[in-house]
Amino acid sequence: MDELLRELALLIRARYPILYLVTWEEGRLDRALRKLAADLGKQIYRWRSSRGFDGPLKGDSPGAALSEVIRSSERALFVLSDLHPFLDDPILVRLLRDAAEALKTSYKTLLLVSPVLRIPPELEKDVTVIDVPLPGPEELRRLLREMVDPLARKRAIEVDGGGDLEERVVKAALGLTESEAASVFAKVIVEDGVFNLDDIPRILDEKRQIIRKTGLLEYYEHTEDLESVGGLDALKAWLASRAEAFSEKARDFGLPEPKGLLLLGVQGCGKSLSAKAIASLWRLPLLRLDVGAVMNAYVGSSEENMRRAIRIAESLAPCILWLDEIEKGFSGTGGRGGDADGGTTRRVFATFLTWLQEKTKPVFVIATANSIEDLPPEMLRKGRFDEIFFVDLPSEPERRQIFDIHLRRRNRDPGSYDTAALAAAGEGMSGAEIEAAVVEGLWKAFPENRELTQADLETAIRETVPLSRTMAEAIEGLRDWARHRARPASRRGSEAPPGR
Ligand SMILES: Nc1ncnc2c1ncn2[C@@H]1O[C@H](COP(=O)(O)OP(=O)(O)OP(=O)(O)O)[C@@H](O)[C@H]1O
Ligand SMILES: [Mg+2]
Repeated sequence: MDELLRELALLIRARYPILYLVTWEEGRLDRALRKLAADLGKQIYRWRSSRGFDGPLKGDSPGAALSEVIRSSERALFVLSDLHPFLDDPILVRLLRDAAEALKTSYKTLLLVSPVLRIPPELEKDVTVIDVPLPGPEELRRLLREMVDPLARKRAIEVDGGGDLEERVVKAALGLTESEAASVFAKVIVEDGVFNLDDIPRILDEKRQIIRKTGLLEYYEHTEDLESVGGLDALKAWLASRAEAFSEKARDFGLPEPKGLLLLGVQGCGKSLSAKAIASLWRLPLLRLDVGAVMNAYVGSSEENMRRAIRIAESLAPCILWLDEIEKGFSGTGGRGGDADGGTTRRVFATFLTWLQEKTKPVFVIATANSIEDLPPEMLRKGRFDEIFFVDLPSEPERRQIFDIHLRRRNRDPGSYDTAALAAAGEGMSGAEIEAAVVEGLWKAFPENRELTQADLETAIRETVPLSRTMAEAIEGLRDWARHRARPASRRGSEAPPGR
């Protein structure tokens, strides 16, 4: 919040006439703005459609309120909540433009506050949009202390904290609004009368649910690790050399934080799996953004959705923002049919790209895609991502590793099977198909009440029709494209790619 207040102070001093603050957190913003007004030596007036101005000013309708703002001769901040539903009215839009003109040469500033960003095109040049960030560690720490200290003093709760209890609780709550954090703290601390490390998984659990409720994001704590990914040694080597990428040490050494990766490739070959593994390698929280939901008008305005997702990701930084199957959400931005939805897809995509380019918070972006036809070319331009990796079908040695992994995962000793022979028989199979074959093999043995045999696995492989056979042409096209523009995720040496 301090950073935001500094930015606002700067804009107000520079006489930016209209600031549009996007947030759900009116109460929190209100406290901050009062402080800001006091610091700047200005009055502050709050207006809302349900009751007009708080103070002596008149103006019940939005139009009357704006006229009052234009007329006033005070040095003041005028904070108007939820004006967006009224912006269909051309007279109101005109009044806002008049206000912008008048305010440029005054000591007055108009602040529009709303959870929804809506600016009529006529106002675009006059309005500066600011996303109010979610509470950072400092604010959450203050909130936590305000809740815990009085209770602890009264001995109403027992605090059993190692040195870093507070730090870890604060970190677990990042990504929540102030009031969400307050209810979560109350729930886990007050409920059982003890505040200790056991509360952390419960806070994370609450957070997972709250984030899921946005309908846009899903929060994962470490799930897969790199050992569960077979093959892809070039990708793994790239990651291994960056194991300390988000450490203090790397910053001190003069390295920038990595920006992101694009994993492009054949279906079922481990792109999503790798995204999860990277998060646990770096011990960073992983947020999966559902690009389809962002674009889905039922969830809310797409642009607002994108900004909201970005805001949550930034509040969790350092973290990983994973955009799975990006081509599905952003298809159509490349020219073909891009205006089918009135340009929304294109605008949302532009918001995302601008953020990707300019982000200062350590949010590592992993985007995955399995076709390039629908991907906007801007996405693929150098510099957006640190690297574009191409994930091909696994080679024979890679298939063997993947068989090993999935046998082990189902509590079988890979040493009891000839996995080299399985890998050879599984020509053209993807990782997902290998996993499916292992499961299929188990299904053959289980009803007969016997242990899984080599023959079960071989039959399962024989019965598989790999996608690479039905989609040979599409895969070949992808390979051709990737040959010069992406880095192979596996070093294959002189071996020809499988599936020919
Ligand atoms: N390289 C691999 N090593 C181990 N398991 C794999 C590998 N590739 C795929 N699998 C298995 O297949 C499942 C599906 O793979 P994943 O979801 O990562 O594929 P994907 O590349 O994201 O495919 P899609 O393009 O369809 O999203 C994984 O959960 C994993 O069990
Ligand atoms: Mg996937």
